[in-house]
Amino acid sequence: MALVTTKGMFAKAINSDYAIGAFNVNNMEIIQGIVDAAVAENAPLILQVSAGARKYAKPVYLLKLVEAAIEDTGLDIALHLDHGEDFEICKKCVDDGFTSVMIDGSRFPLKENIELTKRVVDYAHSKGVVVEAELGRLAGVEDNVSVDERSATFTDPEEAAEFVEKTGVDSLAIAIGTSHGAFKFKGEPYLDFERLEKIQELIPNTPLVLHGASSVLPEFVERCNKYGGNIPGAQGVPEEMLRKATKYSICKINIDTDLRLAMTAEIRRHLLENPSDFDPRKYLGPARDAIKAMVQHKIKNVLNASGQR
Ligand code: G3H
Ligand code: 13P
Ligand code: ZN
Repeated sequence: MALVTTKGMFAKAINSDYAIGAFNVNNMEIIQGIVDAAVAENAPLILQVSAGARKYAKPVYLLKLVEAAIEDTGLDIALHLDHGEDFEICKKCVDDGFTSVMIDGSRFPLKENIELTKRVVDYAHSKGVVVEAELGRLAGVEDNVSVDERSATFTDPEEAAEFVEKTGVDSLAIAIGTSHGAFKFKGEPYLDFERLEKIQELIPNTPLVLHGASSVLPEFVERCNKYGGNIPGAQGVPEEMLRKATKYSICKINIDTDLRLAMTAEIRRHLLENPSDFDPRKYLGPARDAIKAMVQHKIKNVLNASGQR
């Protein structure tokens, strides 16, 4: 049981028909719900921390909570920086003990993205830490990175091959139609599997990463709305598309929004049905259970990762 890099996990997953869930964490209940699910499913696990999460919880709290989760469960966990926007935040996380960092240079032209990623790779590798980069742009809002939906462009397979060769990056996040948040598609959901196939052909040994992979399950949006929420028009990536993606060299699938919806739906329900409760444990406990149930569902029915630890 330890903090581990994603190297071993990805080596196992790349030619298999499952993917590893990378779940965003912001507090104790979220971490506990996720790790309990990974234990129950005996699944490999990546916990990821965004710049926003670091600001919300303070870096040291999240690091210590993840260390506590390892001690408590005996799991091997990869601790990953999600959407690092510059060299400095990546360096900080490497120095803090993260085992994996993402440098997100996707807003830059290819040459700058390569230069920035290479700089992070050189530093991280010198400390035994692995690096994820991103090529192509996802529509929607990322941590500190706003991308106009219209300027969103899918990943070019040839550029992906050049990028991996020149940077030596360990894994690559690609844009094939997913986006962050609860409003992913205005019309019919669509993922560009042909493009994914071409990318895989050109860089067969590079683990690929799918960001923006929440499914925004109607049941949870409806539950939020039923208990006083207002989230109209939410739509995610259909689960069967994600199951299909696991059969390619997609090794890591990022999920945050579905955890937020599960937690919020449960807290809303609890408070509305129990108006005299004011002990936070009364609603955060069930919220933690809701996170666990959602993550177990993802591991079992979407990622196909049960028993792959
Ligand atoms: O990709 C973004 C993740 O969902 C993290 O979101 O930046 O609000 O923490 P956040
Ligand atoms: P979702 O908003 O679809 O959950 O995506 C999360 C993500 O990509 C984190 O990096
Ligand atoms: Zn993301």
